[in-house]
Amino acid sequence: MAEFAWHILEPKLGTYDFDLFDRAIAILGRHGIDTIMCTPTATPPRWLTAAHPEILRVDGKGRPMSHGSRQHCDTASPVFREYSKRITRAMAEHYRGNPFVVGWQTDNELNTSMPESFSKATLTEFQTFLADKYREIAKLNAAWGGDFWATAYDSFDQVVLPIEFGPTFPSPGHLQDYHRFLAFSTARFQHDQVEILRAVKPSWFVFHNLGGLRDIDFRGQFSKDLDFVGYDIYPMLYDEFQRLGNHAKVQALHLDICRGFSGNYIVPEQQSGFGSQPGFCTLTPEPGELRRMALSSVAHGADGLMFFRWRPAHFGAEIYWMGIIDHDDIGRHRYEEAKRFANEMTALQPKILGTFVRMDVGIAGSDFDNQEAHKTYPIGLPSPQDDAILLHQHCYDRGIACGFIHPEDDLSRLKLFYVPHWVMWKDEWTDKLEAFAVSGGTVIIGARTGTRNEDNHVIRETAPGTALSKLTGVRVEDFGRLAAPGANGLFDVMERSGGLVIPPNKPAESNRRQRRFKIGNREMTAGHFYENLTIDPDVEVIAIWSNRYAEGQPMATSRKIGKGQVVYLGTYLTPELTEALTERLFAPAGVEPLVGGLPEGVEVTMRMNDERRLLFVQNYMDQAVTVGGVPAGRDLLDGEKKVTGRLELQGYGCAIVELEG
Ligand code: GAL
Repeated sequence: MAEFAWHILEPKLGTYDFDLFDRAIAILGRHGIDTIMCTPTATPPRWLTAAHPEILRVDGKGRPMSHGSRQHCDTASPVFREYSKRITRAMAEHYRGNPFVVGWQTDNELNTSMPESFSKATLTEFQTFLADKYREIAKLNAAWGGDFWATAYDSFDQVVLPIEFGPTFPSPGHLQDYHRFLAFSTARFQHDQVEILRAVKPSWFVFHNLGGLRDIDFRGQFSKDLDFVGYDIYPMLYDEFQRLGNHAKVQALHLDICRGFSGNYIVPEQQSGFGSQPGFCTLTPEPGELRRMALSSVAHGADGLMFFRWRPAHFGAEIYWMGIIDHDDIGRHRYEEAKRFANEMTALQPKILGTFVRMDVGIAGSDFDNQEAHKTYPIGLPSPQDDAILLHQHCYDRGIACGFIHPEDDLSRLKLFYVPHWVMWKDEWTDKLEAFAVSGGTVIIGARTGTRNEDNHVIRETAPGTALSKLTGVRVEDFGRLAAPGANGLFDVMERSGGLVIPPNKPAESNRRQRRFKIGNREMTAGHFYENLTIDPDVEVIAIWSNRYAEGQPMATSRKIGKGQVVYLGTYLTPELTEALTERLFAPAGVEPLVGGLPEGVEVTMRMNDERRLLFVQNYMDQAVTVGGVPAGRDLLDGEKKVTGRLELQGYGCAIVELEG
């Protein structure tokens, strides 16, 4: 509550009015409903932006943002931080003694609209951040490669912001530090508020609702400050961005990525209906889909959930973002579904809380530096996450328990661990991978892993670097680009980078220079990138390049260590390669579907702990389906009905089967 209400709470500088919220909180309290308050800093009021236009964000073209929408102010600005602390303190002190206020959300989806700012305030703060980090300008020059294109500075106050085209590209070291700075200043902005809330009443819980996930280092200060993390889930909106053509799959992907950051989480906003802002609208959940989508959030690790929103607004830029009840205050099927979901979850709370989501296949994820390193030099190639999505989707379609995990986390429950091209690698991660393989795990390391250092410089050793070469038994002698099937080569690269685009009248030659490879008896076309490898004698070749000059040379290798193996892949994933590779590696690694022979349109995941295993089975299609091969148990959503092998699910039907034994 009060998320965007700064102008109501503080209509004039220093004049506060809490009456509206006091009354609402009291009425809800009388009906047994507690309140979570929000700091309203995503929408600073007009009196503030009029008095201090310098706090507005500025985009990469030098245009200041305007008052009139939201997230228009620069969270790096010391002036804005000061006002944000004042309103937070005033609210915290006012609600200190209110028994119905149980916790706080900070701001709203920090960085979702626009993480970057190129304002004067950002520049000064960036310079200070760099001075703290490097202490001596020579160190910054060395880190950013200042001898290239005369980008060296004499002092920190000469440092500029990395405008994307100024007129051509900035150095990757410069960009990497700019994004590290954005993450630092976002966390600092939130920290200001958290510090106040905790000092006023330590028993309040504090969380944030994340949306766009940009320029936030989840493993750093940002999450350490919170009691738990919240992720806002709009499956039908995210699907249109991600274009996987299936919102259930996109929801699963998004939530699995999020869980990699924080473990179990809450969903502060779950899409309930048709959604829109003036520039777009989403599909509308059909009857039954609201409940199914909410259950899917639980299936992927939500320990709490709220719907967006109770009632749609009648005015403003989200008049058609529908809620549980409609514009006419009548609750229809969405209300009934939300009620059913709430009753079901309340009843099952003791079974569900305290369980974690099972993961047999882990994909390296949630590393801030690696996400950013790709963006600083994308060269039109898929990001580590784009690459990983292929494996995630493959597992999703087959009911294989898959998720994202950082190499620093506990890998011991995994059976297989895939590292997509993580260019920034730390040697201690190699030790973790080695220990995992020795104890029986299968590790797959993708092309280009470990090829840059912390400053985003290319390493001086032969790739993938001394430690990873020792672990894999592989050295990369040469590399090159491959056309993605149907792609336009350089033109795609330029388009994605926001540069000049000249439409080609013929497909580029790169489309003809395809590389083929053989894995087992299957021959297929590689995508995106290739590496030519030399290998140690104890390394087995599991795939070879099969055409052009590289014919017969290793493409993928395996080195057995301890009870497991380390696989090196000299290319990026494609759907075909994912299929062939998993066929070869999954069964020996002990990776099996949770339910075999899953029909199309059915999602399956497992939440478990030492006491119980809960199999979440969901039909995300509108037609009834029969799922065979379900292990024996009882369906907790259907009066504990016994399940023996077969499960009938209506369109959008769901089951939570508590497995026997
Ligand atoms: C979220 C945001 C909400 C609302 C919703 C629908 O990103 O937190 O305030 O805008 O999307 O657009």
